[in-house]
Amino acid sequence: MKSILVVDDDTLIRKTLSSHLTKQGFEVQTAEDGESGLRKYAEMGPDLVFLDIRLPDADGLDVLRQMKNLSARASILIMTAYDDMKTTVEAIKLGAFEYLVKPLDYIAIDLAVEKAFQVKALEEKVSYLVEEKQKEYTIDNIIGHSSPMREVYKLIGSVANTRTNVLIQGESGTGKELVAKAIHYNGPYRDEPFIVINCSAISDTLLESELFGHVKGAFTDAVSETRGKFEIAGKGTLFLDEIGDVSTNLQSKLLRVIESRDFMKVGGEKVMKTEARIIAATNHILHALIESGKFREDLYYRLKVVEIDLPSLRERKEDIPELVGYLVEKINRELRKNVRKVPPDVMKLLTDLPWKGNVRELENALTRAVILAKGDVVLKENLPLETEERKLFSRDLVSLEEVEKEYIQYVLAAVKGSKTRASQVLKISRPTLDKKIKDYALEI
Ligand SMILES: Nc1ncnc2c1ncn2[C@@H]1O[C@H](COP(=O)(O)OP(=O)(O)OP(=O)(O)O)[C@@H](O)[C@H]1O
Ligand SMILES: [Mg+2]
Repeated sequence: MKSILVVDDDTLIRKTLSSHLTKQGFEVQTAEDGESGLRKYAEMGPDLVFLDIRLPDADGLDVLRQMKNLSARASILIMTAYDDMKTTVEAIKLGAFEYLVKPLDYIAIDLAVEKAFQVKALEEKVSYLVEEKQKEYTIDNIIGHSSPMREVYKLIGSVANTRTNVLIQGESGTGKELVAKAIHYNGPYRDEPFIVINCSAISDTLLESELFGHVKGAFTDAVSETRGKFEIAGKGTLFLDEIGDVSTNLQSKLLRVIESRDFMKVGGEKVMKTEARIIAATNHILHALIESGKFREDLYYRLKVVEIDLPSLRERKEDIPELVGYLVEKINRELRKNVRKVPPDVMKLLTDLPWKGNVRELENALTRAVILAKGDVVLKENLPLETEERKLFSRDLVSLEEVEKEYIQYVLAAVKGSKTRASQVLKISRPTLDKKIKDYALEI
């Protein structure tokens, strides 16, 4: 049951409020002055307080301040005998939820109570959601204990509390966005927005207006003024994904914002300031782009105050079993499935594959295997793997000899080194097989 404390020196108000609110199903207590009001507040920890701003023994604002200090949980409604705006504004500044002017009427009381509880519920929900969101991006959700990953964690830890620009480089699917979020959600401005802009997905003009906003009439479709992401981000983070794809024209504009922190809307004249932190990411080798004149070197240096290079999955194979465990668990949870067993031979295969698309490709492969599974086991045949055979025919053109050499090697591996089996499969004699093994220096 929700509890309400009424603090007023007027007996009639205490009585009427108390009986009205009790009838509405609340647990109500009353106090006739500041001192007993504060004592009861501390004892009962109410959800809501009706506080008279004029009390016989204390300044109501002072009581409000002390209540807020004791616990910020309660919503506090101020009651004023006349419309004393100055005190009311002061009370709201101190964190009072609302004020009611005496004489009180039941409709105003009921509305204020309803609003207080609605806002409270919403606040709780929001803080729960924010917490959930933050949990999603704690460093714990980035998997891997290999030494390149340990370097990454160190860097995340050292930049999270700063406002420095960060450049994250890594192949596709290595977790660039995940790392950017971890930096944001572990920093002091975690409650401010984290905004992603994919610089390669949209045209130059559109990207410029996305970033800076535009004024009405700036171009044909600009029917109304818009706010750009630099403005919307506040003190939060602007994640510029695929920064290597930004045109040189826009690179100059970005350089200006980063250096001076000011910018103008497209078509606008007013200079605006941004406080957003910038995290940029790329899977291009920016150095190569600089050499070919496609990326400004000065911008590169401004962006990479701190540089985080994410290792490919091939460079941290030892993390694969742990990642598989984590991803299988995550996929099962999301799909409400129960396919959690990964046999050792499947795990070995998963560890040995090249994973050009890195963690994302591994996650997609496992998702498919979980969906297709009939029992509770991740099966090899359900993994969308490029089999050795398919690889053999889907690559650069090579000589027949090269193909023969690789195929014999493949068959030998498949029959676990049994030359008899291999010659049967290949339909060649044992001596021919022996000769080819020798000529091609194959391993058995
Ligand atoms: N170390 C990791 N631990 C757990 N999950 C990871 C890890 N790295 C990446 N992932 C997961 O892999 C997927 C791809 O990650 P993310 O989107 O961050 O990659 P990216 O580098 O931004 O890729 P792209 O360049 O293709 O945009 C996400 O679902 C992410 O949660
Ligand atoms: Mg990405």
